[in-house]
Amino acid sequence: MRIDVVTIFPEYLDPLRHALLGKAIEQGKLQVGVHDLRQWANDGHKSVDDSPYGGGPGMVMKPEVWGPALDDVAAGRTATRELDSSLPHLNRPRHDEVEGIVAQPYGAPAQGVAQELEENLPLLIVPTPAGTPFTQADARAWSREEHVVFACGRYEGIDQRVIEDAAQRYRVREVSIGDYVLIGGEVAALVISEAIVRLIPGVLGNQRSHEEDSFSDGLLEGPSYTKPREWRGLSVPEVLTSGDHGRVDRWRHEQSLLRTAQRRPELLESAELSRSDREFLEKERGGA
Ligand code: ADE
Repeated sequence: MRIDVVTIFPEYLDPLRHALLGKAIEQGKLQVGVHDLRQWANDGHKSVDDSPYGGGPGMVMKPEVWGPALDDVAAGRTATRELDSSLPHLNRPRHDEVEGIVAQPYGAPAQGVAQELEENLPLLIVPTPAGTPFTQADARAWSREEHVVFACGRYEGIDQRVIEDAAQRYRVREVSIGDYVLIGGEVAALVISEAIVRLIPGVLGNQRSHEEDSFSDGLLEGPSYTKPREWRGLSVPEVLTSGDHGRVDRWRHEQSLLRTAQRRPELLESAELSRSDREFLEKERGGA
C-alpha cells in the first residue's frame, strides 16, 4: 500500500514512521509520502486560504491550491518527503510471531468492494467532522487499497468544489472519526492510517489479534490480564488460569456481551446474537 498525505503541517504526520507503521514501511508493505500543500500555493505569501463566500467566521482552503495538489499526487508527479521507519523492527520479533503463526491472506473482498477496486482509481479520504462515521468495516475494506491519499484540511474546511472535482481522479470519501471537532484533518489521517495498516495481511504478527478485536464481531472486546496472578490484592479471574479453553472462550464471549450491554447498548441491535447470547443478557438484566 502507498499512503500520501497532503497537509500544511507535514511534521504532524511523523508518528506514521513509528511502531507498527514503521515496521510495515521496513517490511516493504507500506510507503508513505507527506506533501506540504504550500508547494502548490501560487502567490508571494504562499497563502492557502481565503474568506468564505456568504460571510461568517474562519477561512476556507482555496481550490486553486488544492486542485493541482491532488492532480499531482494522483499522478505521482511530486517531489515528496518519503517517511522512513523510525527504528529497526525486523530483528525484534513479537512473542506471538515466534510461536509459528503465519499471516493469512483475507478472503475475497465483498462484491461492492471488488467492483470499486477494479476501477483502479486511488482512494481519496477527506477527514472532516461533517463526514460519514469511519468504522472498522471501512478499515477492513481500505486495508486492501493500493493507493490511499489523505487531504487534510484546516480552518473551516476545503472549498467543496475541490471534493467534487477530485471525483474525476479518485474515489472520494469524506469521513469523520467522531462527534467532536479537531483543529484539522491530520490527527484523523493518523487514526485512519493506523486502523487500516494494522489490517494489511502480515503487518500484525498474530492474525488472531484482529479477528478478536473489538467491533470485528460487532461487540466490544472484554478485559485482558497478564502475570502476576495476584497484584495489589487483585486476582486474575479464576477461569483464565483453569487451562479449560472451552470455559475461557465462553467466559470471554460473555464478558464481551456484558461490556457491550453496559457501554454501547446500541451495538447489540446490529450484532449477530445467538439464542444463548440473548438468554444470557436477559438473565444478567434480570439479576442486575
Ligand atoms: N477534522 C476536524 N474534526 C474532525 C473529525 N472529528 N473527524 C475527522 N476530521 C476532522
